[in-house]
Amino acid sequence: MLRWRRAFQSTAPALDEEHARLLELFNFVQAQGNLRREADLPELNRVIGELIDYAVAHFAREEQLMAEVGYPDLAAHALLHEDLRTDLFAVLRPLVAGEIPVPTFLRLTRGAFLKHFMNADYHFVRWARSHSCPPHLERRLTLRNADN
Ligand SMILES: [Fe+2]
Ligand SMILES: [Fe+2]
Repeated sequence: MLRWRRAFQSTAPALDEEHARLLELFNFVQAQGNLRREADLPELNRVIGELIDYAVAHFAREEQLMAEVGYPDLAAHALLHEDLRTDLFAVLRPLVAGEIPVPTFLRLTRGAFLKHFMNADYHFVRWARSHSCPPHLERRLTLRNADN
C-alpha cells in the first residue's frame, strides 16, 4: 500500500481529492493482487475497471478545468494524459490475461501517475494560482456537458 503523502499534493483541493482517490484505487488493485485466487478474479477485474473509468474521467475533468481558466499548456498536458492512458491500457491486457502479476502492473503504472501529480499537475496549479481564479482550484471538479 502506498499512503497519500503531502509530497503528492498539488495544493489544490479540487485536484488532490481526485488524485487521492486514484491512489486509493491503485491500492485496492494491490490488495486484490495480494489475495489473488481464482475466486477473486472478478473482484480484481471490477476494481481495475473502476480505476480505469476514474482515471479517464479525472483527466477529462482536469482538462476542462484547464480550459476554463485558459491554461496555455493545456494541449501539452492533454498529451501527457494520453500517454498515461495509453500505458495504462497497454499493461491492462496482460494483467487481465494473467500474463503479468499485479505488482508488475503497479510498477508500470502507479509511479507514473504520482510523478504526473507532482510535476505536471503541480505546474498547472502554480500557474493557476498566479494567473487565474483560485476558486476554480477549491471547488470540486465537475464535467459539464457541452450541450447544456
Ligand atoms: Fe491530475
Ligand atoms: Fe494532469
